Amino acid sequence: MTRREQLTEHLSFFKELGVDGVSRDPIWRVRAVATPCSALPTAPGPDREATPDTLNEIRSDLGECTRCKLHAGRTTLVFGVGNPDADLVFVGEAPGRDEDREGEPFVGRAGQLLTKIIASIGLTREQVYIANVIKCRPPNNRNPELDEVHTCEPFLFRQIDVIRPKVVVALGAFAIHTLLGTDQAISRLRGHVYAFRGAKLVPTFHPAFLLRSPERKRDVWEDMKTVRALLESR
Ligand code: URA
Repeated sequence: MTRREQLTEHLSFFKELGVDGVSRDPIWRVRAVATPCSALPTAPGPDREATPDTLNEIRSDLGECTRCKLHAGRTTLVFGVGNPDADLVFVGEAPGRDEDREGEPFVGRAGQLLTKIIASIGLTREQVYIANVIKCRPPNNRNPELDEVHTCEPFLFRQIDVIRPKVVVALGAFAIHTLLGTDQAISRLRGHVYAFRGAKLVPTFHPAFLLRSPERKRDVWEDMKTVRALLESR
C-alpha cells in the first residue's frame, strides 16, 4: 500500500470513528492529566511486597484450569496477548466463540474494531497487551457470574501487576464494573480517569457495543485521545 493509500485509509477510519477535524492545539494533551491522581477515585493496587511474578509463571499456575464451571465448556483458555512490557493494556469481558477457538482475545468482529481503535492512536496490537476479566468462554456468551469473576480476576490482576502499564483501558460495562468495583452507569464513569493498580484506568465502550451503536464511536475517540495524552505524559 502506498503512503497516500495508507493516509486515505487512516482518514476514512477517523471519519468512521466520528472525528470531523484535526487540531494541533496542545490543550487536549494536558486535559487528561490535569486532575492529580490522588484526587481520583481509586481501586486496589498491587502488593509491592509480594515476590516478583512473570507472565509465564501466571500462565503455568493457571495450567488446564478447572477452578470454576466455565472450564467444562471451553475449547481454549484465553490468557492474553501482546507486549509483556506494554504501556497500555486493554481489558475486555470474556472470550467469545472465535476467541475460544483461536485462544487469543479479540479476534472476532469486535476484535477487528478494537485493532482499528488501537491503530487510531498510532499503535499496533503487538505494542499493547490485550486480556479479559474472564479467561474461558461463558456458555452462549452469557454474562460471567460472580463466582467465576472472583475465581478468575486474581490472575488478571497478577498480569497487570507484572506488566505495570501506564494506562489500562476497561472495555464495556462488565470490565469497568469489575475493575473499579462499582455498579455505577457507564455514562457516569466514562470521561473520568481512575487510579488502578499503579496505572491510570480509562473506561470506554466495548467494541461489540460500537458495532450495534456506531454513533458512540465519537465518544470512544474522545477516550482514546485521553489515553494518548496519558501515554505521552510523564
Ligand atoms: N469480547 C470480549 O470482551 N473479549 C473478547 O476477547 C472478545 C469479545
